[in-house]
Amino acid sequence: MNVHDSEKVIGTLMDKGYGQVETPEEADLVLYNTCSIRDKAEQKVFSRLQEFKRHNKGKTFGVLGCVAQQEGERIFEKAPHVSLVCGSASYNHLPQLLVQLETGNRRVTGLSLDTEDTFDTPMTRRDNPHRAYITIIEGCDKACAYCVVPYTRGPERSRASESVLAEARQLAELGYSEIQLLGQNVNSYRDPSAAAFTFAQLLDAVGRVPGIRRVRFTTSHPRDFGKDIIDAMDENPNLCNQVHLPVQSGSNHVLAAMQRLYTREDYMRRIEWMKNSRRNIAITTDIIVGFPGESERDFDQTLALLEEVEYDSIFSFKYSPRPNTPALGLDDHIPDGEKGRRLTILQEKQRGIQLRRNAEYIGNIEEVMVEGFNKATGQWIGRTSQHKTLNFTTAQPAGQPLTGTYLSVRVLRAGPNSLVGEAV
Ligand code: 5AD
Ligand code: SF4
Repeated sequence: MNVHDSEKVIGTLMDKGYGQVETPEEADLVLYNTCSIRDKAEQKVFSRLQEFKRHNKGKTFGVLGCVAQQEGERIFEKAPHVSLVCGSASYNHLPQLLVQLETGNRRVTGLSLDTEDTFDTPMTRRDNPHRAYITIIEGCDKACAYCVVPYTRGPERSRASESVLAEARQLAELGYSEIQLLGQNVNSYRDPSAAAFTFAQLLDAVGRVPGIRRVRFTTSHPRDFGKDIIDAMDENPNLCNQVHLPVQSGSNHVLAAMQRLYTREDYMRRIEWMKNSRRNIAITTDIIVGFPGESERDFDQTLALLEEVEYDSIFSFKYSPRPNTPALGLDDHIPDGEKGRRLTILQEKQRGIQLRRNAEYIGNIEEVMVEGFNKATGQWIGRTSQHKTLNFTTAQPAGQPLTGTYLSVRVLRAGPNSLVGEAV
């Protein structure tokens, strides 16, 4: 989501006549897009800002994103060389903020969260010529006890289905074949227009845009994840075989403390829908270890859940206390060393599961979109519908313009994080 925000910011400024340069050294204006989901990400912002300052006298510096939204004008105290602070809901005001700087204001901010015009970006400068992101919903109305997002990205705002479809058609005309729909919680999408599409209908419609061959979406919330999504995937082969469904914990006690609004049993019902699908759906998740009050028994239940679901991959994190969040007030915070121990055990266990899952692909012929060529290994890099990396060799000479094309590849070997094969 942050990567796509940067693409939108760059597009908005280029539309106003700004140009993008290769390195911060060459720039007159340096905008730093930031994340505050965990403390480590936030710490990085301030050390990076100091680094920039040393090498870049006389430039204008701005801080964007969630740290900007969260810290607001305090950023000017911590990093006095910064003159612009702007959160994601106010990016459409960036050109005006920059004009204010040029006309002599020393410090400007865009921190309002009630902006309605979030989606009307005049231009987007995309990094990848084949795969594109489209935002369908901004903000989050949930209140997970650990999460800073509702405070930094504000309440949910859905984008009209026709606007999403128009962007998808435009992308197809430009030669994009893969689209990833984005939102903090795509399942709570509510079409504000008369068409009144559900999320599953929108997903299906994007998958039917001529020229679009692959559609993915992230991220889902188990509470709002409906069976109609899996039904749409069963019917429409252009919807990728991949669902990211963050569980956070396998313990009902911890899920309740996290205010996740579902139980392990509710979650497993959704996993069953996927396992019963006609498609071979890759399932991935997010897990937090060491949430306040997480006992050894709770943690064991998370380990058991990994085995039960057999995830294709996971993103796992040590719980990190965030400003303003309800979890700050909970008792029984877990020491960092213990969080680290649990994280290592979890990741070890998952590694074994992935090795097993990936080995099931050996002998299959999978369609990949070619992402590039790895000179060091002499292999092409491909991505399967399940979003697995499949490195492969081909009889065609290297240097052929294969990137962005679709090929069939036979899987010969499997590791925990990727597959290896040859084009057929
Ligand atoms: N500490 C650790 N992990 C967090 N996440 C969100 N907030 C926190 C936090 N305070 C994780 C969740 C979420 C993912 C994007 O980041 O697992 O799904
Ligand atoms: Fe954060 Fe929960 Fe909203 Fe996801 S659903 S962004 S974890 S509050």
